[in-house]
Amino acid sequence: MATNNNPEGGTSGEVPAPSRAEELSSSGVLSPATPGRPGGKIRTHHLQLAKRNGERFAMLTAYEQYSAEIFDQAGIEVLLVGDSASNNVFGNENSLPVTVDELLPLSRAVARAAKRALVVADLPFGSYEVSAAQAVATGVRFLKEGLAHAVKIEGGSFFTETVRAMVQAGIPVMAHIGFTPQSEHALGGYRVQGRGDDADRLIQDAVALAEAGAFCVLMEMVPAEAAAAVDAAISVPTVGIGAGNGTTGQVLVWPDMAGLRGGRMARFVKQYADIRTALSDAAKAYGDEVRSGQFPGPEHTF
Ligand code: KIV
Repeated sequence: MATNNNPEGGTSGEVPAPSRAEELSSSGVLSPATPGRPGGKIRTHHLQLAKRNGERFAMLTAYEQYSAEIFDQAGIEVLLVGDSASNNVFGNENSLPVTVDELLPLSRAVARAAKRALVVADLPFGSYEVSAAQAVATGVRFLKEGLAHAVKIEGGSFFTETVRAMVQAGIPVMAHIGFTPQSEHALGGYRVQGRGDDADRLIQDAVALAEAGAFCVLMEMVPAEAAAAVDAAISVPTVGIGAGNGTTGQVLVWPDMAGLRGGRMARFVKQYADIRTALSDAAKAYGDEVRSGQFPGPEHTF
């Protein structure tokens, strides 16, 4: 067995028993005030301990340095370098066209900016489905070149062997089930998954993926009741987007959450700011001042 040089103890693929400090902590596993973890990095096992403690955590997408820094300092526990960069950074219609080579530098920027958050990178469509070996090779690139701490893949129990191989290779894996945007065409568009009898399949998928070693299961666009049943069926934490309030954590795409993106929002999005209007107003004011000769003023001039 390999020796563990990690001073925090534990390995990324397993859930170490909580230390006495963690057991005794009344401020919460994820709180910067927790004894033994003052302001320290969030690791996969902290999310697992959080679930055991009945704590929830927040996750947001991030695609570059400033948003990553802001969200990290705001206490967001998990940053996702989502393949939603495809339609939020690169101007595509959906997540399908984005490539490994496009996502790697984004992952690197987010990981460099985040001092506390766990950074999870999406493996893009086509980069892990062919074989477990392909998934391991791509996952290694995201940890090595993208500096990510974990990766996320979309798909159900079909991917259990893939998850097992990745975890054995030292790559922490978050599984994404329910509506999986990379399968938009196969699923017939953006549709709620796991309704009625399909809820059982969702639970079976989550159980199989957790048993294979996934440290967390993300569910997108599934009925709240089904998502809560999944959360109850597995010991690892769950994250929801459009999956109700019964998951361990929640995730939103940041340009939706902060109102940077225009247009119609999905029902599950709550907009906490209107960055688009703030930015537009700033750009208009700057343009007006340049055209009128008001900027630069004496105070901006050498
Ligand atoms: O890429 C992404 O933004 C995602 C979220 C929808 C969870 O996978």
